[in-house]
Amino acid sequence: MNVLVINGPNLNLLGIREPHLYGHATLQDLEREVRAHADTLDIDVRFFQSNHEGAIVDEFHRNREWADGIILNPAAFTHYSYSIRDAILAVAIPTAEVHLTDVDNRPEPFRKISVVRDVCAFVVTGAGFGSYLQALDAFARMRSNVPSR
Ligand code: DQA
Repeated sequence: MNVLVINGPNLNLLGIREPHLYGHATLQDLEREVRAHADTLDIDVRFFQSNHEGAIVDEFHRNREWADGIILNPAAFTHYSYSIRDAILAVAIPTAEVHLTDVDNRPEPFRKISVVRDVCAFVVTGAGFGSYLQALDAFARMRSNVPSR
């Protein structure tokens, strides 16, 4: 089973960015943990991070034939990107919306809005890196229902 992990804007600054919210570990640490967990589940992973909306859309398209599942942390794009929402629908690959923080319970009202949620297969929030690991677990459980490449 192949899973693409996409991280949106500012997540390249994990470890530096608002550590009281996002912690001290880096994007490289996250990717290492996700890969180690994926290995135990016999899942192949690819990683992509971009601060640019169109580049994220392109990455969906590029992996259209490869990915059986996508773990997507759209970061701020969560709250307003209709092109990423449309990309999820266009490739028709089961996509997990994940967040490090509990976005629904953060103080800013705009964070309670997700324009991608209703087109995602499931959502995991608020567990830090664990959100990604739980998404991998869910894909592994769904594997028997997904024709694997
Ligand atoms: C985030 C939550 C978003 O609201 C925010 O813009 C991010 C990170 C999270 O992982 O908690 O950049 O997606």
